[in-house]
Order: sequence, then C-alpha cells, then structure tokens
Amino acid sequence: MKIRVEPETGGKKNGYDIVIDAGIIGGVSADKAVSLLNSAAVNLKAGFLAVTSKTVHGLYGDKFSDFLKKCGIENFDFIVLPDGESTKSLKYLSDIYDRLIDKRMERSDYIIAFGGGVVGDIAGFAAATYLRGINFIQVPTTLLADVDSSVGGKTGIDHPKGKNLIGSFYQPRAVFIDVNLLKTLDKRELANGFAEVIKYGASLDANFFSYLESNYKKILAYDEKCLIHIIEKSCSIKADIVNQDEKESGLRSVLNFGHSLGHAVETLYNYENIKHGEAVAIGMVFAANLSKHLGLCGDEDAARIKNLIINSGLPADVPDFTPEQYVNAMKLDKKVADKQIKFVLIKGIGAYEFKMLDFGLIFNYLTESVKLKKTQNY
Ligand code: NAD
Ligand code: GLY
Repeated sequence: MKIRVEPETGGKKNGYDIVIDAGIIGGVSADKAVSLLNSAAVNLKAGFLAVTSKTVHGLYGDKFSDFLKKCGIENFDFIVLPDGESTKSLKYLSDIYDRLIDKRMERSDYIIAFGGGVVGDIAGFAAATYLRGINFIQVPTTLLADVDSSVGGKTGIDHPKGKNLIGSFYQPRAVFIDVNLLKTLDKRELANGFAEVIKYGASLDANFFSYLESNYKKILAYDEKCLIHIIEKSCSIKADIVNQDEKESGLRSVLNFGHSLGHAVETLYNYENIKHGEAVAIGMVFAANLSKHLGLCGDEDAARIKNLIINSGLPADVPDFTPEQYVNAMKLDKKVADKQIKFVLIKGIGAYEFKMLDFGLIFNYLTESVKLKKTQNY
C-alpha cells in the first residue's frame, strides 16, 4: 500500500510516498527493495548516514545493513544514539553534524532515520540544516513513528524549558513502514503509539474511532491486519491534513489535539518517566473534559475517549503538579498568542473545534474541576 503526501506549498515535485507493508526490511527480494528506492528516485550510488538508536541497532542493525546492500547501496554508515527523549538535544545533534562532516557528506547524499520518533525528529532536523538541507528518508520502527512522526515533515529537538522548541518543517523523500518491526516493541510502547491513533479518530473521524473501540484488543495484541489498517488510516488522515496546511498556519493544529496539556506534562516530568503518547492521552482526556465543561460536547463523548484510553492501558488523570506549573509550561507552547493559547477542543467524537483560551480560564479549570491544589492565585 502506498499513500502520497503532496503538500500544496511543496508542489508535486516535492511529493513523496509512504510505503506500508510487512517485511520490507527483513523479507523483500532485492528487486522489490530496489524498486521501492527507485520509485523514490533515490540515488543508490550516493553516500548514506543511517541515524538509529542503541536498541534498534542491536535488534535490526544487521538486517538493515543487508537491506541496504541488497538495494545496491554500498557507501553507508550508522550513527548510534542513546535511547530516550533526552537524545533530542543539541549535544546529539552536534554529534550527527560531526559525523556528516567527517564523512564529507554532500547535499546529494542521504540521511536515513531508522528508529522511533526521537531518531526521526533529530535526524530530520540534522538533514534540514546540514548544508541547508540534504536528502532525507524515514524508516520508522515504533507505532508512534509509523502513524505520526515520520509523516508530514516536522523535525526538531527539545530545549530544557520546552518540548520541540527548536525545529523546522522538512519533508522526507520517502517513508518506508515495515509493520514486522513492531513485533519487538513492548506493550507500553505499542500503547504509546496507539494514543496518537486514538487522536485521529477522536478529533477527525468518528467511524475510525468506533473501529478502534471495537478492535483495540486485537491491535494491542499485535494483530498484523489490524496494525496495517490503523497505520494506513492514520497516515491517510495525516497526509490529507498536511497536504492542505504543511506549515501549520491553521488546519494542521488539529493534529495537536491533546498536545497542549500533553507537552506541559512532558516538560514538568523533565521528559523522564512519561512517554509522549502517554502525555497526549492525558491531554486528550483533559481536552475532552474541558470541551464538555465549555458546553461543546456531551458527557458520553468525553466518557468514550476516556474509556478507550484507559482500556488501552494509557494514563488518563492529570498528574499532580500545581495549576501555575501547568500554565507556565503551556505559555511556552508554539500556539500561544496574546496571552491566549489555541486549544483543540471537540464538538463530539470526530469533530474538532479550535478556540483561543485565556490562561486564566485554564488555571481556574485546573483548580476547580481537576481539583489541583494552587499555591497562588492567577
Ligand atoms: P522513541 O523514539 O523514544 O522510541 C521508544 C523506544 O523504543 C526507544 O527506546 C527505541 O530505541 C525503542 N524502539 C524503537 N523501535 C523499536 C522496535 N522496533 N523494537 C523495540 N524497540 C524499539 O519514542 P517514540 O514514541 O517513537 O517517539 C516519541 C518522539 O516522537 C517524541 O520526541 C515526540 O515529540 C516525537 N513526535 C514527533 C512528531 C512529529 O510530527 N515530528 C509527532 C509525534 C511525536
Ligand atoms: N504531530 C503533529 C503534527 O505533525 O502536526
């Protein structure tokens, strides 16, 4: 299955395919592998730097090298980064630049991100900025990266004061999603990616949300057919949004459903002991309850979102920080303007609504409805 991403601003020339299959890395013939890369107009004689993480390299480094060789790619190296969100930092970005320079990589060469969202985001940002942009390919290995971070061109790193504060929009030349790689992902990581899948259904597609309610057990038991279906559906929904609004001037913000509070949760946890999807799950329950509080959606809509999240083993409760800590963390959100934040709310399952909300309203809601203890007035 192929899904085309063609952002309006990039024009047809910069469009690319997302190829979704089982067995791309480990199981394809050389012919199929070459045809995949040819269809993305990849120059097999160029130089390649594969950016990966320790775990992924340990599990799939040899298979991936074989895959590249089968494709006729000879000039490749790996840079292996530590696992974890703290890798999305200036330090490791600088390590990637050092390797690119040592390898004398040119603009016509390629960076391949082979890993989860952390690897994809930092490798993509290195590709966007090294020599003002070199070729970039995404080979995601987590469910989260399959359904979200490998598609749409958001790249970047974190700053100690806030998530993804340094970055750029930089589209890959191709995305190769091999569902077989998910077999080694532990259950917590699978659920983590599933949170972003729930996001698409909850804010954009009621039928898809119902499908997830009916099939979450099979999905979280690694059923290949179900996984392929949710990845295809998620990528199609995301591609459709990115095609209309690549640089997030409006519509694309809908993909941040659950992220305003979610990013604050990640920041308050110092990016440790909580995963991105888990923080988004908490943020989606918060956003759904806030929508109900503002009279936008009914009790049942908010309850369905919370139930699916809890049934999937994801956290739903707002962690115990103070309202002022949340508001301060949210003030660094990229969607803040004039002391208000652009919040993604819902009018019902599958129907989003944007609202500019005062921080005072969020503070009061966190104090009075979520019942967090304040240490000062807003
Ligand atoms: P991750 O990249 O940290 O990967 C999670 C863990 O799984 C890591 O330890 C990794 O080494 C391991 N792993 C990866 N593939 C594996 C496999 N096949 N088998 C076993 N282990 C494997 O986490 P993530 O959830 O993939 O990505 C989270 C990041 O993505 C966050 O930084 C988030 O901000 C970012 N993100 C970006 C976008 C975007 O549009 N660019 C969208 C959503 C999230
Ligand atoms: N993950 C949100 C976006 O890509 O816009």
